[in-house]
Amino acid sequence: MEAWQIHQYGGNEELTFSDVARPASIKGPNDLLIKVHAASINPIDIKMRGGYAAKALNLLRKQCGKKGSEFPLILGRDFSGVVVETGRAVKKYKPGDEVWGALNGFRQGSHTQFTVAGESEISKKPKTLTHTEAASIPYVAATSWTALCTVGELRERNALGKRVLIQGGAGGIGTFSIQLLKAWGADVTATCGPDAVDLLYSLGADTVVDYTTTDATTELSRMPPFDFVLDAVGGKTTEDSFDLLKQWTNAKLVTLVTPLFKNIDSMGFVPGTAQAAFSLGTNLLRGLTAGRSYRWAIFLANGKALGRVSQLVDSGQIRPIVEKEFPFTEMPAAFEKVERGHNRGKTVVKVADTAGHS
Ligand SMILES: NC(=O)c1ccc[n+]([C@@H]2O[C@H](COP(=O)([O-])OP(=O)(O)OC[C@H]3O[C@@H](n4cnc5c(N)ncnc54)[C@H](OP(=O)(O)O)[C@@H]3O)[C@@H](O)[C@H]2O)c1
Repeated sequence: MEAWQIHQYGGNEELTFSDVARPASIKGPNDLLIKVHAASINPIDIKMRGGYAAKALNLLRKQCGKKGSEFPLILGRDFSGVVVETGRAVKKYKPGDEVWGALNGFRQGSHTQFTVAGESEISKKPKTLTHTEAASIPYVAATSWTALCTVGELRERNALGKRVLIQGGAGGIGTFSIQLLKAWGADVTATCGPDAVDLLYSLGADTVVDYTTTDATTELSRMPPFDFVLDAVGGKTTEDSFDLLKQWTNAKLVTLVTPLFKNIDSMGFVPGTAQAAFSLGTNLLRGLTAGRSYRWAIFLANGKALGRVSQLVDSGQIRPIVEKEFPFTEMPAAFEKVERGHNRGKTVVKVADTAGHS
């Protein structure tokens, strides 16, 4: 099979198109062999190409029985494709099923013609989408679900009317989260650059604030305070978001931009985790003094959530936002596009030459 691999951490020049052996058979009883039809590029792929989270992921790989070096490494965390083979304990899927999924970081990735996924990392793909459209959703969907639902305790049953602010509304996370929250009945405000304002309104956002032409923090602070902030920007934006929350109602700020893996990479496990815990503790305290809650969210694979999202897509409540599609042979150009930033929805790579609905 053909796959994009890296043999050491570095820049885009490390991506090599290789003819490699297809996974011979399924070893894990709950694993499936998937023919990848399309995969997306996420900021995590750019970071992992450069060695981000390598120490933590290598530990997990070791715990999963992988011996030796992580290289050659296939990047790519999500896909849409077709089941080829199933492990003996897999009950819900059979060869030929169309599925989508988002893979745990310790696994080999999806930028390849065939990948191995766990049953808990996938669900049935939405019937109404092509594989290219479908591949734009799983990683941002599973991450948004972790942040909003698992960590933030916001759910379909309690989101109605809640005032939610999404910092970073135009990227992969933002364009998905706006739609999920609107499907759940929340009142959504989102920030973005000027060219994305119309897109965000078209996704259902109630209020959109252009952070480049106005003092966004001042404008947001003039609005009624928020029950929840999803932060997909980090830095000063995270800092400024605190005071936009309601007081003494356990309003939550959940950020996706955390120092944990960066600290572990640069300082090692114990000092890196301690430093990150100090930063978390400081912010927790700041929140507690005003009855607010500060939390970190990190992607968790979640096939069950993808199953629910698949239904929301098929019922027309969530649509894919594919900004650009590249052929499989042009993977480095797709990485460059995402790395340049200013992303509006997702960049997808078409791996198999099919029309989509097989
Ligand atoms: N913790 C986790 O497990 C996890 C998982 C997924 C993603 N993330 C992180 O979450 C962040 C967002 O991910 P993504 O996939 O959505 O990235 P993305 O697709 O690259 O989108 C980022 C968006 O933020 C916008 N932006 C930049 N600065 C902004 C600001 N000050 N205010 C408002 N918008 C701003 C960018 O557009 P403009 O520059 O044109 O404004 C872009 O549209 C990334 O840092 C990513 O690494 C973390």
